[in-house]
Amino acid sequence: MKKLTRTTELFIYDNIEDLPAEIRELIHESKRAATTAYAPYSHFRVGAAVRVASGEIIPGSNQENAAYPSGLCAERVAVYAAAAKCPGQVISAIAIHAADYHSEEIPVSPCGDCRQSIFEYEHRQRQPIPVYLTGSGKTIWKFPSLRSLLPFPFEF
Ligand code: THU
Repeated sequence: MKKLTRTTELFIYDNIEDLPAEIRELIHESKRAATTAYAPYSHFRVGAAVRVASGEIIPGSNQENAAYPSGLCAERVAVYAAAAKCPGQVISAIAIHAADYHSEEIPVSPCGDCRQSIFEYEHRQRQPIPVYLTGSGKTIWKFPSLRSLLPFPFEF
């Protein structure tokens, strides 16, 4: 029998001023992106903002559909848009915001599909993608890499 451990690291900030300016801006853009959500079915608006190496910020928001599974989460809208608009550029960070949630202390975490999707880019660029999460309160969660959120991703 062998034991293999992979750890999750989470950094919790109570004050946005403790983060560097470019991260504060990214979080701000994820909040702005949430206002563009099309969520008439769930009424759950999510915004995401991806920063690429050039400094450009690509926003995304959840887009729902009357045929429910046809909709897409904010994170994937943003990451796929960044990959299409800025091909080959390293993704330096992603911020995700969901305010329509009951907890001020615990931000919404990306769904499993989004984790797997973002992991693909982290794996490809061989550089971690830090993930910043915010909700209705002041708390900010930082996962230093996607792998930290998905310690055993599907890879082949
Ligand atoms: N949603 C996201 O945009 N990101 C997630 O990580 C989880 C869920 C969206 C999908 C759907 O439009 C709504 O939130 C409710 O599930």
